[in-house]
Amino acid sequence: MTANEQFDQHLQQKLDEKKAAGTLRSLIYATGKIDFSSNDYFGFAQSGLLNSVDASALPSGATGSRSITGNSALAEATEQLIADFHNRQAALIFNTGYMANVGFFSCIASKGDTFISDEYIHASIIDGMRLSYANRLRFKHNDIADLEKKLQSSTGKKIVAVESIYSMDGDEAPLIAIASLCKKYGALLVVDEAHATGVFGDKGDGMVCKYKLEDEVYAVIHTFGKALGLHGAVVTGSGVLRNFLLNQARSFIFTTALPPQHYLLLQKAYELLPTADRNGLAELVKYFRQQVSGLENVSFIDSHSPIQGVLVGDNFKTKALAASLFENGFFVRPIVSPTVPAGKERIRICLHSFNTRGEIDELLQAIKNNCH
Ligand SMILES: Cc1ncc(COP(=O)(O)O)c(C=O)c1O
Repeated sequence: MTANEQFDQHLQQKLDEKKAAGTLRSLIYATGKIDFSSNDYFGFAQSGLLNSVDASALPSGATGSRSITGNSALAEATEQLIADFHNRQAALIFNTGYMANVGFFSCIASKGDTFISDEYIHASIIDGMRLSYANRLRFKHNDIADLEKKLQSSTGKKIVAVESIYSMDGDEAPLIAIASLCKKYGALLVVDEAHATGVFGDKGDGMVCKYKLEDEVYAVIHTFGKALGLHGAVVTGSGVLRNFLLNQARSFIFTTALPPQHYLLLQKAYELLPTADRNGLAELVKYFRQQVSGLENVSFIDSHSPIQGVLVGDNFKTKALAASLFENGFFVRPIVSPTVPAGKERIRICLHSFNTRGEIDELLQAIKNNCH
């Protein structure tokens, strides 16, 4: 056996272990299924509206990183437009939300400083914090008293990281209470709005704007791959922060910039965002909650956002339920441990403004049939 074959065998063994634990991932695709899974909350990605942008005069690629040849007046104007939209001084675009969080969290704190993050924080923030030399503390999910304990025991500059809407549990961080605690302890607050961008706030500007916390929050991350139906992300904050990130964030510096036409698409998506059907989506969430409250023997996560979920509590059973719902015409995916804590494995259900009450009825009926 060659060294390459031996190494493949070693990898296969690890995959077999994952399979035995029910955590093996595989890629699927589907057409003709009812979408209860994507993060395309208003159907922007599917609507064709964004395709109406004329990018024929622009080069197809950025030709370099933003620091070399990939910058343009268009990129900078788009950043300012986004900063203004979210009522912030400045913004810096990253190629993905993952890269924004890894870049930001890896460079913002140094040895002796302390990150304090919610235990359910997104993997991209965990990876960013790990790349820094700062200490890391976790507080219990949405637990203000535990956050205060951690603030009391932390050293150096304190940076608190939360999501405004949690990506797997769909629940909301108590942002006002967290902001006031951060103020009390002189901590910086950083909010990842990935699942709130577009969905919450009068014009879709997010929870920080909704609660008028712009002055209390040091930096806000908005992603473009969800309600905006596009790709990429932005870190918003002060002009000094923007300047610091473009000097220090390695996931910004050492990568080719987004293709120029993407900025036109972003401008278009931001123009459309105030008109997105947030009320329709909120009504649908309300309908879903009413319907599930009457269901016996099935347990749902306690969420009032478009992110919902059926708690199954076992990797294999969760995968089996997802496969059966998929067979029945619904695009839903299983979320198994360790992505969520063991015992809280679930089918994640994402509601969209384009889903109908009838589709929700059919989905819940299929869940009911499978859970008896
Ligand atoms: C809370 C949160 N932050 C960041 C990301 C990463 O964003 P992107 O998909 O643009 O890399 C996600 C996406 O899964 C997310 O849910």
